[in-house]
Amino acid sequence: MSKTIHDMFSKIAGTYDRTNSVLSLGIHHLWRRTLIKMSQVKKGNAILDCATGTGDVAIAFYKKNGNDGRIVGSDFCAPMLELAEKKSKEKYPEIEWQIEDAQNLSFADDSFDIATISFGIRNVDCTEECLKSMARVVKPGGRVLILEFGQPHWPIKPFFNLYSGYILPFIGGMISGEKTAYKYLNTSSAQFPTGKNFVALMEKTQAFSEVKYKSLTSGVCYIYVGIVAS
Ligand SMILES: C[S@@+](CC[C@H](N)C(=O)[O-])C[C@H]1O[C@@H](n2cnc3c(N)ncnc32)[C@H](O)[C@@H]1O
Repeated sequence: MSKTIHDMFSKIAGTYDRTNSVLSLGIHHLWRRTLIKMSQVKKGNAILDCATGTGDVAIAFYKKNGNDGRIVGSDFCAPMLELAEKKSKEKYPEIEWQIEDAQNLSFADDSFDIATISFGIRNVDCTEECLKSMARVVKPGGRVLILEFGQPHWPIKPFFNLYSGYILPFIGGMISGEKTAYKYLNTSSAQFPTGKNFVALMEKTQAFSEVKYKSLTSGVCYIYVGIVAS
């Protein structure tokens, strides 16, 4: 599974940002802004963005905090990280980019104040391993945040299903040449646990003392926040 996912992201890396902006109509910037706000990031914090892709969350943290603290963007797909590095090297040279599997992070325990993963956790082999791995590298009392697609509710559900089932794979396929990747986006999002079901998964890890969540854009996306247990 991981190899299939890795190869899929390697193939779409070059067109990822463009396709994202077109398909989300730019709304993904708002979702990421809400993620940063809910992280309650403070100056001097050490932040890890897992499955960073082309690095937008890590860069958004930099824009908020500047060169104060530490920001690391990690991903297991080198072509995605290369684009992140290219995008950031002039304006945000202090951001560190590192190849990492989010399920088995190599950082020492308690290395970060905040760890995030946006639109990445749906793709890992084992959600619980990924959550535990992220919680391990965050200090007790720190935050693990997950931004992920959900299944939107009425009244936008039928429009969304039409959009994500047909329009999204068509346009995504046209821009990237990889229609299968955008079909996978639809099917994997439709099957992924959302809302209270995802909270239950987070609680099952016993890594968090508190878990809360917020639904965005009528349930198209969710942000989950886990406070790391001591
Ligand atoms: C949909 S992209 C999201 C990228 C970025 N976080 C964003 O919000 O645009 C998913 C990313 O997850 C990465 N990924 C998938 N499984 C991973 C794993 N086990 N460890 C690290 N990265 C992974 C992929 O390489 C890809 O860059």
